[in-house]
Amino acid sequence: HRHLLGIEPLAPSDITTLLDLADDYVTLNRTAKHSDTLAGLTQINMFFENSTRTQASFEIAGKRLGADVMNMAMQASSIKKGETLIDTAMTLNAMHPDLLVVRHPQSGAVDLLAQKVNCAVLNAGDGRHEHPTQALLDALTIRRAKGRLHRLSIAICGDIAHSRVARSNIMLLGKMENRIRLIAPPTLMPSGIEEFGVEVFDDMAKGLKDVDVVMMLRLQKERMDGGFIPSEREYYHRFGLDSEKLAHAKPDAIVMHPGPMNRGVEIDGTLADDINRSVIQEQVEMGVAVRMAAMDLLAQNLRAERAAA
Ligand code: CP
Repeated sequence: HRHLLGIEPLAPSDITTLLDLADDYVTLNRTAKHSDTLAGLTQINMFFENSTRTQASFEIAGKRLGADVMNMAMQASSIKKGETLIDTAMTLNAMHPDLLVVRHPQSGAVDLLAQKVNCAVLNAGDGRHEHPTQALLDALTIRRAKGRLHRLSIAICGDIAHSRVARSNIMLLGKMENRIRLIAPPTLMPSGIEEFGVEVFDDMAKGLKDVDVVMMLRLQKERMDGGFIPSEREYYHRFGLDSEKLAHAKPDAIVMHPGPMNRGVEIDGTLADDINRSVIQEQVEMGVAVRMAAMDLLAQNLRAERAAA
């Protein structure tokens, strides 16, 4: 692959190859913290939407692999003077970057940009479309916690309708032959989602029954433009994860959240901090390793392409 734009085009073997390499990078990150894998390559991070985890981990990942990393401060860029996304990308492309990491509020914007530039593009989240490195880091977290990434029962709960994390996870976990249960109020469940081979619930007790993994999602109010926004109190009562609702899952079920989390809205703060159940901090750690693996594999392809030219 030239780019990492989504989970959709990946084969199960691509996913396994990337996760195996990411496992090696977990070890590197806990020991030496440095390699020269991306030495001589330039990585530019362009975030047109807020980020803590994804931006920080892509920057750390690039630096640990020896790349020259530049974070574009998009708020201070000429986008504010009316320059288009494509003109901005073409301008940066003329500076010969090798890896472009892009987050954008519009679905499809990163794919469009990838068609215009000469380097590898990594989608760091586009609208409600895809967030491939999030799904890959979730997969690595699950594989390490459960010892496998197939034939697990996994519940994804909350604002499915606006979530690129849910979309990428549904595709990845489906490709790896897991049983996926989606739990949300009907207003936050995309219609026709059953076509993806998932089971749909609007009740936490029923949806969580005997699952191995519970993945919680944030209410994405910024994407609810004018639509129905549930009251936080009512939402927490029915769909917020606490230890009482978690008791319906398997006794060893793990609790995940991609972050940023809203304590007391979709998840109880004490449960989120419970290291016996919650793997939220492991997800963050896996994020650095997965992004290192993704950039390493794309750089290998880029170098091979250039050598053949
Ligand atoms: N999970 C995630 O994408 O978090 P950020 O928005 O902080 O990058």
